[in-house]
Amino acid sequence: MLPTTLSSLHSTNVTPTPSVSPLSPFSPSSSSSSSSFLSLPSSSSTQRRRRRLNSLCFFGDTHLRISPKPKGLKVKCLVSEPLKVMISGAPASGKGTQCELIVQKFGLVHISTGDLLRAEVSSGTEIGNKAKEFMNAGRLVPDEIVTAMVTARLSREDAVERGWLLDGYPRSFAQAQSLEKLKIRPDIYIILDVPDEILINRCIGRRLDPVTRKIYHIKNFPPETEEIKARLVIRPDDTEEKVKSRLEIYKQNSEAISSTYLKIMTKIDGNRPKEEIFKEIESFLLQEQKDTEKMEKSGNTLLESKSHKIQASTSKDNWRGIPTRLNNIPHSREIREYFYKDVLEATQRAINDGRTRLKVESNIPELNPEMDVYRIGTLMELVRVLALSFADDGKQVKVCVQGSMGEGALAGMPLQLAGTRKILEYMDWGDYGALGTFIKIGSVGAKEVDEQDDMFIIVAPQNAVGNCIIDDLKAMTDAAGNRPVILINPRLKDLPGSSGIMQTMGRDKRLEYAGSFQNCYFFRLLYYAGTQYPIMGALRMSYPYRCELYKRIDEPSGKEKYVILSTFTERPTIDEINDAFQGKPRGFLSGIF
Ligand code: AP5
Repeated sequence: MLPTTLSSLHSTNVTPTPSVSPLSPFSPSSSSSSSSFLSLPSSSSTQRRRRRLNSLCFFGDTHLRISPKPKGLKVKCLVSEPLKVMISGAPASGKGTQCELIVQKFGLVHISTGDLLRAEVSSGTEIGNKAKEFMNAGRLVPDEIVTAMVTARLSREDAVERGWLLDGYPRSFAQAQSLEKLKIRPDIYIILDVPDEILINRCIGRRLDPVTRKIYHIKNFPPETEEIKARLVIRPDDTEEKVKSRLEIYKQNSEAISSTYLKIMTKIDGNRPKEEIFKEIESFLLQEQKDTEKMEKSGNTLLESKSHKIQASTSKDNWRGIPTRLNNIPHSREIREYFYKDVLEATQRAINDGRTRLKVESNIPELNPEMDVYRIGTLMELVRVLALSFADDGKQVKVCVQGSMGEGALAGMPLQLAGTRKILEYMDWGDYGALGTFIKIGSVGAKEVDEQDDMFIIVAPQNAVGNCIIDDLKAMTDAAGNRPVILINPRLKDLPGSSGIMQTMGRDKRLEYAGSFQNCYFFRLLYYAGTQYPIMGALRMSYPYRCELYKRIDEPSGKEKYVILSTFTERPTIDEINDAFQGKPRGFLSGIF
């Protein structure tokens, strides 16, 4: 038998809400004058911040703000905007466990709908009596009950002042829309991602301490003492059958909910030690706080450094989204310039952060000389943009193209690079004569490194059949020391020679060296298996942000657009991409990596 206290478990702020009214105190009309609690929905976090900022600027001279309380005006000193966080994930993905840690560190008000409902059940309120049968069956409690309960809780003073951490809500598209209508939006939407088989095991092994409300697991997190062990209880919905039903319901709803929060969504691998997961969440939240403070202090709408999640790169005012019609080549000047700018900004951020071994990989058709030799011209234009920009900052930039490799009959260079050095020399390097002063042209090797060079840009370094560039490259980077070396579209994998024995010696070391260059920019189009048409989506990584996965969508008007599906800390595998494009069978992507 379960003790009645079970209902109040697993929350830091559980209080039954007997006076829940179906109408939230935050009607859309009243919300417009509220600044600190209700942030306006916007298409990007920058817009969101700008709204915040505008509300601050409105009272800018006095640094005073009107509290969101509907009755009368309460004036208080401006403090930094509190965090508003939503955490989501399948049953037992670890939401409650992470919430404990988040609350400890950030002091947010934890609002768990599961806990609120269990508290209602335990207190025998009308809501509790209605909710009980749904919960015990592993089904969702009707939206109107939960929504009224959540909005009432969110409007309480502690949540308004300290910020909130909403756990387990919204759980359906209708719930998400209810919040949208009330203009209640989080700063960040975290999803904990855990494989199904692990979830079931976690639920079955979960135990709760009715006294401290701490969450345990018989294997993963056993109780500290025998005394605690003796009082642990099992949740009535933690049977395998009910967990499966809850999981199914979660899956049916999750995509629709995520679509509401795509721009502020961050997916976190929840199948790791809880401390590791928390570390990642913590860094996102700290960054979010830092950005907010910076924004409020500087009054600047452009965020300089957001290193963690989708909105980090997509919400920047000057980021225009992924250009469309990328299969139409040659690309327009506008598209080419889009990529030059995107690469330049990422590279500048990496260099400003002190990174020294960098690579840019941009394989849009027009920048991919593997497809057609003439495209090296576009690559050179990109190199010129980079070099001139760093030269403008007073840096001495050496632009390098590998020369002929090998000896005698085996001497030669990759076809794509033939003539590139000449092209570089004849290119227009601007009226003020950067070439020869701030920009020099060189080859690849230790002797190319001069004392006055500040940085090196190497155009498409690559192995050729029978010859390997890596030794020269390594000698060059050794000589360059801690000066930045940027590889543009390198191809450093071994190529098989006609004899089949080429480059087998020292392969591991070569690959390890090649792997020591960090991507500061990556862009790749995704296609359905075995085709180059239509474009299915794109992967983009722009330092220091996460790798972003986009899906291309055809609009009824005939236009196309890209929507962000997910983000990853590392470049995702094909399986991960397939998973993100939910509803499609595995294996429909071509072998792009
Ligand atoms: P709710 O209480 O929200 O349940 P849930 O979403 O199914 O989530 P859980 O509480 O089961 O899991 P959790 O993700 O918090 O995991 P935990 O940290 O405990 O909702 C219950 C019910 O209320 C619903 O079914 C529904 O009926 C109703 N309801 C709630 N919200 C509603 C809404 N909005 N609309 C309608 N109805 C609603 O961890 C699980 C276990 O794993 C623990 O034992 C823990 O120790 C262990 N663990 C955690 N992290 C790790 C880790 N990193 N490694 C190993 N083990 C770990």
